[in-house]
Amino acid sequence: MASQDTVLQTNAQLARDYILSQPSDALNNNPWAVYQALDLFSRTARLMNFKQAKLNVAKEALTSMEYPPKVVIEFGTYIGCSAVAWAAILRDLHGPSTEGLHVYTFELSEEVASVARDIIRVAGVEDIVHVMVGPASESLAKLVEEGKIVKGGVDMAFFDHWEKFYLSDLKLCEDLGLFRVGSSVIADNTDFPGAPDYLEYLRAGGRGGEGSVKYVTKSVPSEHIVENRPNMVEVSTVVAAP
Ligand SMILES: C[S@@+](CC[C@H](N)C(=O)[O-])C[C@H]1O[C@@H](n2cnc3c(N)ncnc32)[C@H](O)[C@@H]1O
Repeated sequence: MASQDTVLQTNAQLARDYILSQPSDALNNNPWAVYQALDLFSRTARLMNFKQAKLNVAKEALTSMEYPPKVVIEFGTYIGCSAVAWAAILRDLHGPSTEGLHVYTFELSEEVASVARDIIRVAGVEDIVHVMVGPASESLAKLVEEGKIVKGGVDMAFFDHWEKFYLSDLKLCEDLGLFRVGSSVIADNTDFPGAPDYLEYLRAGGRGGEGSVKYVTKSVPSEHIVENRPNMVEVSTVVAAP
């Protein structure tokens, strides 16, 4: 029997084939159309993309930020579905110029990253979305080392990789000084499969102690139903940053 990883990788390639088989005038350079086509495809194929109903929650959080976001970091690229949506939101918020708009997205698997790159190219947002292969923690540290992300320079961090890494990668963002007051931190799957240590940390307001990053957080129900319950999106806001 095929392993779960193999199924998800095969389905990622099927998603790419599906996108590449669509009439070019329907999807080319249209990130929202690409996002919606992937979301539709995911209703019949097993894909672990960030679904439309949950994106609606995240979009509301992003579009109501006091300073419209420009720099997003994303933990977990997979087929690039959410990365394309972040790029579309940034473009919608900032008009035609893409100057200073960046989505840095991290993916462990080279094969899956290559699917995402093809999809991002069709969506026409490859100038905004940068896919980095390898453990997210290493890619993030590299970006900071190279000066591509500066202190306080992350407007939104999205956690959608393996839940066991959420808390350590959030703490890494803090240690690297990436957040500012008002930065948004959004996470999928905190209720199912679940990220209890991450939730506990955020609900406690952060690490605690003087000079630490502090958060307010809320679990927002989406219209995506899992096991007869609304699937939650965790939306947290940085309220203090040293
Ligand atoms: C739920 S999927 C991401 C879905 C994606 N956001 C979308 O909407 O299409 C999780 C992805 O995270 C990747 N991943 C898991 N742990 C990782 C890590 N430590 N660093 C980078 N990528 C990781 C997996 O290979 C998988 O492709």
